[in-house]
Formats: sequence, C-alpha cells, structure tokens
Amino acid sequence: GEAKHPRSGNFSFEGPFGTFDQGQLQRGYKVYREVCAACHGMDLLSFRNLAEEGGPFWDPHESNPNNNRFVRALAAEFEIADIDSETGEAVLRPGTPADSFPNPYPNATAAAAANGGAFPPDLSVMAKARHDGANYIYSLLSGYEEAPEGLRIASGQYYNPYMAGDMTPFWDGDPDHVPYGGFIAMPNPLRAGQVTYDDGTEATVDQMSRDVSAFIAWASDPRAVERKRTGLAVMIYLLLFAGLTYASYRRIWRGVA
Ligand code: HEM
Repeated sequence: GEAKHPRSGNFSFEGPFGTFDQGQLQRGYKVYREVCAACHGMDLLSFRNLAEEGGPFWDPHESNPNNNRFVRALAAEFEIADIDSETGEAVLRPGTPADSFPNPYPNATAAAAANGGAFPPDLSVMAKARHDGANYIYSLLSGYEEAPEGLRIASGQYYNPYMAGDMTPFWDGDPDHVPYGGFIAMPNPLRAGQVTYDDGTEATVDQMSRDVSAFIAWASDPRAVERKRTGLAVMIYLLLFAGLTYASYRRIWRGVA
C-alpha cells in the first residue's frame, strides 16, 4: 500500500523563474480564512505578513506592512484577547497588523477533542512539512473520493488516495490490488461555491484547492521569489567572472611555451 503520486497544480511559482500570482494568493487567503481556519491554525503568520513584499496584499504604495489599510481593516475584524497594560485586566480588543493569526482552539487538547481525537496540524509551513508540498495539498484537497468497495473504514475516518498509509489490513478485495492512499480524520472540507471570490473567479473545488495550496506555499516560504532572484544575479555574475578569468588566463599565458 502506498499513496497516489500527487497531481501537479501547475503553479506559477514553480521553477527557477517562477513567481507567486498575487491574485491567487488573495483567493487562497480567503479559502484559508473562511474554510480551513475553522480547524487549522497558522500560528507563525501575523496579519502584517500578508502586506509584506510579495505577499497577498502587498501594495507598493504602502510599503510599511503595518500601515497597509486593507490589512489593518482585515485584522480589525478579529477580537484579540489581551491584557490591558494600564489596568492589568483581561480585555478583548480589535486586531492589528502586528497580531498573529488567531488559533481556532485554546490548546492542542481542545483541538484534538473537537476533531475526534485527531489534531488538525498547523498549516504555517505545511508546504515544507510534506514532500512536494503544494502539489500534495492541492491533490489531497481535490482528491477525496468514494472509498472502493471492500475497504473497511473506521468511524470518524475518511478515505483519500493521496494520504499516506497502508490499506492492506483494511482491504477485503484482491490482495494484488490494494487501493492507494490512507485514512484521514479530516472530512472533505470543500464544496463547489463555498467561497465567493472577489475577482469573480469561479469557486470550483479544484480552484479553491489550488488557490489555498498556493497560499500555504507562500506562507511556508515567503522569501522564495527573492531568493531565486538573488540566485539568478549570482549566476550571471559568476558567468561573467568566469569569462573574465578565462580571458586573463589566455592573456597571461600568451606566447609561453
Ligand atoms: C489534516 C489542510 C480544512 C481538520 C490536514 C492536513 C492538511 C490539511 C494539509 C494534513 C494531512 C497530512 O497529514 O498529510 C487543510 C486545508 C483546509 C482544511 C487546506 C481548508 C481548505 C479542515 C477543516 C477541518 C480540518 C475545516 C475540520 C472540520 C483536519 C484534521 C486533520 C487535518 C482533524 C488531521 C487528520 C489526520 O491526522 O488524520 N488538513 N484542512 N481541516 N485537517 Fe485539514
């Protein structure tokens, strides 16, 4: 038994020249916020990160992420538990860009208890935590299917061909054709039309899966594009330098027997 190899999300950020598609990151944030955030935290992200260069709401006219008007409004929609610095009392105040994303649960025990004993993992760096992360998350989310007949599923578990696992012990069918994949405690979270995209893109399951995977890929490695750009400049420099070195070598050794 093994998991099915992920399908490609054909992401814009693949390859040495790839960049994130800002519209896709905005759509992906919306899917995270309106669907995934009910169960999954992204504890490493602050609202301000969304407005940093290359991020979903980066605006070159408001280059200080703490002043990005859109992200300020977006953060202010959340109530953040805090301690009043003057009175020392516990208060709820509107969020600011400096606040980290609120976690849906007070702690891991509560998170597991709310999900039949399975802890919904933090998604901050999920694209790095799984092999071929973005394609994997895309495939997992858009890959739920009816369990093949002959597969015994425990209650609170769902079948997904892209999930890691070994179905052999649960399979009553032909032992030479054990189904791909594994059981996952996450029910299929996406239904067509579940979010309304601001840019008018049709919210198919495939589209939402792709967009939220791109968003998680960005969150997992927000400096990826910058690093590729630096790498390219370094390669060009090295190439020129190699040429210069070779020309000097030829010149220095000219006529030496
Ligand atoms: C696991 C993503 C929505 C509950 C996972 C995993 C990913 C993921 C990548 C890890 C799978 C693995 O271990 O390889 C997402 C995304 C969502 C979403 C992107 C939104 C589109 C939800 C929702 C719930 C949920 C709404 C709760 C109803 C869980 C649980 C697990 C899990 C309980 C642990 C499963 C297990 O270990 O068997 N999710 N999820 N997820 N998710 Fe979600």
